[in-house]
Amino acid sequence: MTRVPSVFLFLLLVFLIVLHQSMAAAHHHHHHSIVSETCKHSANGDPNVNYTFCVESLQSVSKSKHADLRGLAIIAARLAKADAKHAKSRVKTLLKAKKMSRYRKSCLQTCRELYSDAMASLRDSVKLIKAGRYGDANVYISSAVDAPGECEDSFKEGSIKSPLVKENHDLFQLAVIALSITSRLG
Ligand SMILES: *[C@@H]1O[C@H](CO)[C@@H](O)[C@H](O)[C@H]1NC(C)=O
Repeated sequence: MTRVPSVFLFLLLVFLIVLHQSMAAAHHHHHHSIVSETCKHSANGDPNVNYTFCVESLQSVSKSKHADLRGLAIIAARLAKADAKHAKSRVKTLLKAKKMSRYRKSCLQTCRELYSDAMASLRDSVKLIKAGRYGDANVYISSAVDAPGECEDSFKEGSIKSPLVKENHDLFQLAVIALSITSRLG
């Protein structure tokens, strides 16, 4: 009489443990893969996207583990904006140098302007993504994608070495990643 319920309870317990473990595993797997899957997709779709850089950048934000594609687009745009801000403050420091050619100074001022505009565009793009206006967000992010190249071009035209190669490389990467993710929304 009493054996049947206890066997039943034992089996139920085993079932619940197995269920719990498989759910935890699925949960963990999901967390691991959203960033890498998204970056793989971006790198396959755009030769400019560096997969490793993409994964490292997005993983630097802990929220990315729980994000969906739209959340990752917002995270990427915010990372790009923070990078434009960093680049702008680097230019500010470079502009403090006492001796510099007028040409170099004008390049730095051009880049400062470009970074400011990129920051504003990326800030607006986050608002547009949140409002579901993905096409408009793409336009804003695209203008930020162009900024680092335009900055580099100003130095190239005067045949002087750019002091902002790293800043421009990182900003380009982050903006391209944000663009690639945002263009998949909607
Ligand atoms: C891609 O990004 C990683 C991490 O930033 C870097 O180490 C690597 O050199 C990059 N690869 C290319 C081809 O730029």
